[in-house]
Amino acid sequence: MTLSRTEQTLGVGMIGYAFMGAAHSQAWRSAPRFFDLPARPRMSVLAGRDEARAKAAADKYGWDDVETDWTRLIARDDVDIVDICTPGDTHAEMAIAALAAGKHVLCEKPLANSVAEAEAMAAAARQAAARGVRAMCGFTYRRVPAARLMAELVAGGAIGTLRHVRASYLQDWLIDPAAPMSWRLERQRAGSGALGDIGAHAIDLAQYVTGDPITGVTALSSTFVPRRPMPAAEGFLGTHAAGDGEYGAVGGEFGEVTVDDATVFLACTASGALATFEASRFATGHKNGLRLELNGSAGSIIFDLERMNELVIYDAREENPGFRTVLVTEPSHPYIAAWWPPGHTLGYEHAFTHQVRDFVEGIASGQDVAPTFDDALGVQRVLAAVGQSAAESARWVDVPGATKGGTHP
Ligand SMILES: NC(=O)c1ccc[n+]([C@@H]2O[C@H](COP(=O)([O-])OP(=O)(O)OC[C@H]3O[C@@H](n4cnc5c(N)ncnc54)[C@H](O)[C@@H]3O)[C@@H](O)[C@H]2O)c1
Repeated sequence: MTLSRTEQTLGVGMIGYAFMGAAHSQAWRSAPRFFDLPARPRMSVLAGRDEARAKAAADKYGWDDVETDWTRLIARDDVDIVDICTPGDTHAEMAIAALAAGKHVLCEKPLANSVAEAEAMAAAARQAAARGVRAMCGFTYRRVPAARLMAELVAGGAIGTLRHVRASYLQDWLIDPAAPMSWRLERQRAGSGALGDIGAHAIDLAQYVTGDPITGVTALSSTFVPRRPMPAAEGFLGTHAAGDGEYGAVGGEFGEVTVDDATVFLACTASGALATFEASRFATGHKNGLRLELNGSAGSIIFDLERMNELVIYDAREENPGFRTVLVTEPSHPYIAAWWPPGHTLGYEHAFTHQVRDFVEGIASGQDVAPTFDDALGVQRVLAAVGQSAAESARWVDVPGATKGGTHP
């Protein structure tokens, strides 16, 4: 019997079930209900280290089964896709093992905690691709409709020659010195702090929207609060949950913060544009402010995640130019036709649904879906150059592999 498009299934196994686990779960659930997918994802199994918590999460988010060891999840016959929603120190081992087992991999960002790990993952993904196995990294904001439209407009020449990239990702969840430790504040677990957690998104979005890679950087970082109380018990830390087995009950003790609280850097791009980047968890009042402004010879475009249904556009070729706000909810805009009528806005979670939609389409059609592991390796190289520059008093550091252009020192 020949199955119709949506009768074919792809079993999904997800590792980690806290913040991203919840976001990805809703995406696996909603993507086939709003998009006409070539195969229907089945939420087969969730892996977590604590069985009771994993079962509760599976029940809440709609997974059929649980495993307490991620290696068993990868080995299961009912798993075709492995979705990695764990901290960065686990990504390389999990992704490489899953690809070797012939499973497609969606891995959260940043791809890894080091360039060496990211290189090994990208090599594994290239080998897997030759066998029809796909790998993708979760730089989700590329799939916010307004961000995607921004990329399309820039590629179509809307701003002319790129002159400036002004990117920032600002949060404030650490302004209180009593905010507790989490894996995000440990270099061993997270690789870096604000830089890799949120700066990585700004780097990826800027490079994606402009198509113009960063070639060199000079950076400064600071850790404003170097010691923090350990959490009194495992649990929810604002939007940043401590997962099962993360710390145990360690109230009263302090932990050392070994990552940057904020990092800023200047950069050159291959085309010769000048760029500034800022990533901070101490930007008081800013909750999840990813902002990308581009200025070109013929116009400017601004995206702001806290106003994610809009783009602000300036066209210098108009007779009376001025900044105007475009509501990105028309059926002609990216992804929107599958959702609601014009003006019925989308939210944070929809980009995750779009990510699943595009990944399933790529698997079914045998195409790589960006951001590939090679794309994410490119981001990792920028992160490493920024980290190195900040550690060496803002010395200029070239990004390996990127072609120099324009005003590059
Ligand atoms: N795409 C995005 O916009 C976005 C947003 C937030 C986080 N992230 C990324 O997602 C990943 C997870 O972040 P999060 O915010 O969900 O963290 P989290 O702390 O909320 O959840 C981490 C989960 O991983 C589990 N875990 C940790 N080590 C494990 C192990 N060895 N084996 C099995 N499970 C393990 C924890 O129990 C928990 O369930 C990180 O790479 C982070 O950078 C991406």
